[in-house]
Amino acid sequence: MTTIFSALIQHRQAQGDLHILDLFAADPDRATTFSTSADGLVLDWSKTAIDAGARDLLLDLAAPVAARREAMFTGQRINETEDRAVLHTALRNLQGSVTVDGQDVMPAIRATHARMSDFARAVRDGSFTGQGGRITDVVNIGIGGSDLGPAMATRALSPWHDGPRVHFVSNVDGADIADALAGLDPATTLVIVASKTFTTIETMTNAETARAWMAQAVSDPAAQFAALSSATDRTGAWGIDPARVFGFEDWVGGRYSMWGPIGLSLMIAIGPEAFDDFLSGAAAMDQHFQTAPLADNLPVILALVGLWHNQVCGYGSRAVLPYDNRLARLPAYLQQLEMESNGKRVAMDGSDLPFASGPVIWGEPGTNGQHAFYQLIHQGTQVIPCEFMLAARGHEPELAHQHLLLAANCLAQSEALMRGRSLDEARDLMRAKGLTGAELERQSRHRVFPGNRPSTTLLYRELTPRTLGQIVALYEHRVFVEGVILGINSFDQWGVELGKELALKVAPLLEDQPAPGHDPSTERLAALVRQLGA
Ligand code: F6P
Repeated sequence: MTTIFSALIQHRQAQGDLHILDLFAADPDRATTFSTSADGLVLDWSKTAIDAGARDLLLDLAAPVAARREAMFTGQRINETEDRAVLHTALRNLQGSVTVDGQDVMPAIRATHARMSDFARAVRDGSFTGQGGRITDVVNIGIGGSDLGPAMATRALSPWHDGPRVHFVSNVDGADIADALAGLDPATTLVIVASKTFTTIETMTNAETARAWMAQAVSDPAAQFAALSSATDRTGAWGIDPARVFGFEDWVGGRYSMWGPIGLSLMIAIGPEAFDDFLSGAAAMDQHFQTAPLADNLPVILALVGLWHNQVCGYGSRAVLPYDNRLARLPAYLQQLEMESNGKRVAMDGSDLPFASGPVIWGEPGTNGQHAFYQLIHQGTQVIPCEFMLAARGHEPELAHQHLLLAANCLAQSEALMRGRSLDEARDLMRAKGLTGAELERQSRHRVFPGNRPSTTLLYRELTPRTLGQIVALYEHRVFVEGVILGINSFDQWGVELGKELALKVAPLLEDQPAPGHDPSTERLAALVRQLGA
């Protein structure tokens, strides 16, 4: 692997000051040959500096993917540091058959899916009620993977949202739950406690707060709670009736979990049928990922483009820019998916990684971002590969003229990033405004765009439950492919543990209790918090 990476780095160096536009000039078919499609999704990766030689080397990198992919889909324990299989794909393959340690896991998945669907229908049609009548509001309490997926997808699929209102509470900051509960009627609210482990301090603290809030208004608060967890012993101890506990196995990672019980709030919002369409989109992407040749495989190509930009070109961040306002939470969702999965510094065997690991993922929907941070993307000193996303049509036919403007902006941005504006072009502009001499030169230099900045565009027909399932599964597999090539375990997250442990040890400092072993800065800050907050 390191040999191929070295060859790629040499190849990149040999490109010198090659401009992406030169690649189009040399290959009239580039727009189609550097574009990959699957089931209505089109990924245009022609606006990158990947040429035919780089593409071939990148495809060599992907050689180990097939075996590892087979291991994942067949339930082998590829999460080696936690000794677990990785089978979120089974949650959306409801007709399929998968065994773990010789046992078919599908009957339990199907049974839980059927129970979830029944419960969601009952909440939606009013046959499950609160103590004050029909459920009007659902509050999902969870964090990380137990929040970002359903929160992102519920927002993305708002046109399908015909169930009760759904609210998401994640932060241990009491402001989050206080704002969410303000104005809700406890007697008609269902609280869903979503936590794989059922120990996460933020979630359990918020769940206690919600229970106390509920107890002020109804005689049996637990009757309006449901739980989504792998730790069904803990949900019972917490007092939630097993009839409203939806369990899943430890081989569903938190950030990969919205396809099963963690998706309950989404299912209640959009209904079990639309939720199943969401699953079917993801299952179609699974099928594509397993069967398409590497060179035509969407997740593989997206991963290789990512590796080219981060590990080969050395660009340290990646902007995710959906020109689709309903995907506003997708960048945050992908931040966890990619950074928690591949933000590692050792390889599977514990040795130091010989390459950089995952880039910083960030972004906002277009066109909003254009009026905020695109300045740096166009004219700043660092190169930020951009991943644009665009639906060919919007959901509101009466606003087609707005969609046209949105699409024009999206395409214009990727074109502007690639094309740029030369000093001569800037001078012409300034001359036309009547500037001359030193002022012409000075003003012109501010209006130069270096161009040659790479981007990809993912185009889809329309944002539907099925399309969203395809897109999320595409990104999941992209992260997997990147992890396989880098030799990373993409399915553990040891890097979040130290901060959690220390938070428990810092808490006594804030209460002026003895808490030895802290550094002077932390001690002073804690003292100031006590003093200023008194
Ligand atoms: O702290 C990180 C993490 O473990 C994530 O991986 C996970 O999605 C999140 O916390 C929530 O965990 P849980 O679902 O167990 O409450």
